[in-house]
Amino acid sequence: MTRRAVVKGVGHYLPERIVPNSEFEKTLDTSDEWIRTRSGIERRHFAAEGQTTSDLAYEAAKHALDNAGMSVDEIDAIVVATSTPDLTFPSVGTMLQKKIGMTRGFAFDVQAVCAGFVYALTNANALILSGQCDTVLVVGAETFSRIMDWEDRATCVLFGDGAGALILKAEEGSGDNTDRGVLSADLNSDGRYKDMLFVDGGVSTTGDSGKLRMQGNALFRQAVEKLTSTAHTALTKIGLNDDAVDWIVPHQANIRIIQGTAKKMGVPMDRVILTVQDHGNTSAASIPLALSVGVERGQIKQGDLIVTEAIGGGLAWGSVVLRW
Ligand code: UT7
Repeated sequence: MTRRAVVKGVGHYLPERIVPNSEFEKTLDTSDEWIRTRSGIERRHFAAEGQTTSDLAYEAAKHALDNAGMSVDEIDAIVVATSTPDLTFPSVGTMLQKKIGMTRGFAFDVQAVCAGFVYALTNANALILSGQCDTVLVVGAETFSRIMDWEDRATCVLFGDGAGALILKAEEGSGDNTDRGVLSADLNSDGRYKDMLFVDGGVSTTGDSGKLRMQGNALFRQAVEKLTSTAHTALTKIGLNDDAVDWIVPHQANIRIIQGTAKKMGVPMDRVILTVQDHGNTSAASIPLALSVGVERGQIKQGDLIVTEAIGGGLAWGSVVLRW
């Protein structure tokens, strides 16, 4: 028998305010047509004034607990993936812990930008496999609208706010790739690519939180190859190939990156969960949001083999393979 971290619940939250592409036409030299054709984005959600990342995380976590039919007392740990915390410290994880009324266990944040959820899921899986925890709440939550330069048309039209959450619980599996739960992970980073995507401020430099800067085209050229390669590495580790994939649940940065990766993997687009048109790029929240929406739409079903993959600032990239 092998210990496995199995998904017991999933949830998400999107702030009420929906911003269509046309809204940017009023203030920037851009168009709905450019944004749609270059990125696939049609609209995104922005958090209300005063609404923080931990507020979004709280709503998604509540939804996931309801979906799992579990009480907060059953959660041993919280891992939050975010690059847009409420405060420099404490972590969004501990703020979420308080908001959901969890008075034991522990909580912390993981910061790997758009690859954050894949990193958080891998950490949560390790906490369960090591026996440290039986049940872990894993959240991706972001308010990227707070780090946009509203005069930079090349970035501010691309990002959105939101949160998604999963609950993982220890179960005994057979140890082969037919088990439910997290089956394999592959993480990578290369700090030499820092200038491709970064925020130009921080505690020990400017003393403020800064604005996002991106060399979109250069990053685009890295993305498809690195995403395909990490997904293949994760699949190969458990003796599977692209034919075994029921769903790719990719980071939702750009429809053309998603299509390019699916094509290279030989997976048709009707087996890819797509939310980029409605959410824009929500960084670490995009994969759990897509998982939750995929379940809500009736696309993802128990037993399906899912490959998640993401790349972002760092650069950091990776993939987790799990059976729902
Ligand atoms: O989540 C983290 C990972 N992020 C990514 O993976 C993002 C990767 N990159 C991308 O998704 C794409 O590169 C973008 C969507 C950011 C840009 O698409 P692109 O096809 O690579 O366009 P580009 O950057 O090469 O720009 C093409 C043109 C430029 O004009 P010139 O120099 O050709 O005259 C830009 O100035 O489009 C211009 N442009 C715009 N035009 C209208 C840039 N932003 C806009 C805009 N509206 N909002």
